[in-house]
Amino acid sequence: MGNRETLLHLLKADPQNWISGEVLRQHLGISRNAVSKHIRALRATGYEIQSAPRKGYLLQGIEDRIIPEEIRDGLGTSVFGKQEIRCFTETDSTSLQARLLADDGAGEGALILAESQTRGRGRKGRTWFTPKGEGIFMSMILRPPISPMDASRLTLLTAVALAEALIDSTGLDIRIKWPNDILCKGKKLAGILTELTMEMDAVNHVIIGLGLNVNTPKESFPEELKGKASSILAESGISHSRCKITQRFLERFERHYNDLLSDGFPDLLDRWKALSDTIGQRVCVEMIGKSLTGTIRDMDPNGFLVLEDENGVRHRILSGDLMPLTGTHP
Ligand code: BTN
Repeated sequence: MGNRETLLHLLKADPQNWISGEVLRQHLGISRNAVSKHIRALRATGYEIQSAPRKGYLLQGIEDRIIPEEIRDGLGTSVFGKQEIRCFTETDSTSLQARLLADDGAGEGALILAESQTRGRGRKGRTWFTPKGEGIFMSMILRPPISPMDASRLTLLTAVALAEALIDSTGLDIRIKWPNDILCKGKKLAGILTELTMEMDAVNHVIIGLGLNVNTPKESFPEELKGKASSILAESGISHSRCKITQRFLERFERHYNDLLSDGFPDLLDRWKALSDTIGQRVCVEMIGKSLTGTIRDMDPNGFLVLEDENGVRHRILSGDLMPLTGTHP
């Protein structure tokens, strides 16, 4: 632990009481000036630290910001969130930044987060609504020893991990809409963008980008998203700590990821099916150059969606855009 982290730890250990500059100085073995410098840096990060002559310092609160130390503090993972965490006040796109970092050799588990993005990207080149300071906009670097054919499993895995983390953290009724949407009462709370870089026929790295609407008030959504998108605040009436949700997500993600790499896809599939909003729905699926209409019957053991058309013919689909149609097929 560095001096700044130790100092923060000391302030957090006894949040009701003042702690003198002298005690901090002695504990860390640094000068009073160095203590003041660390306090200033912590304040700039989002920690509300009061200071008073002859009393010392008191941690009054923590601003609702994405703070790497708050993601790390109490995080129950071994890899994800334990490597580099970069947090931008504003960037073009966390996924673009993660790609640069990965090209530079960053290891699995590195995270890029941003309070806002100027070029937040969704699937199919769509833009992603990124209201400043209200959501989780995060990209993770993965270096999975899997075949590119199996990479879509990572999207299913991320959706399951996020849905479970949100159920744990908020108690909301969360469902997954294939392939990558997280819904609450039919409205989209989050989307996942999985991008893969290959070398020959092996995966070099995968960037998983995740955009989650956390504390966005209902009325702040742009007109074209109203009725389609929502936030945890809008659905639960309560603001939530974005760092805590990030932690719960990373813990779930890492557990399922390790399972997946040790042949645990069947278990993941069962979890996905239990959370799915898609199975049993009559839908139109648009794929490159064609579309299919029918009822979603299942997800097969390889992660293909099984659609049964009006003639009873079953089609296996790996990727596409799904639009629900009203009424279920018998
Ligand atoms: C979707 O189309 O549903 C996927 C949206 C993914 C958005 C996230 S926000 C963080 C990361 N950076 C991006 O530019 N996109 C992803």
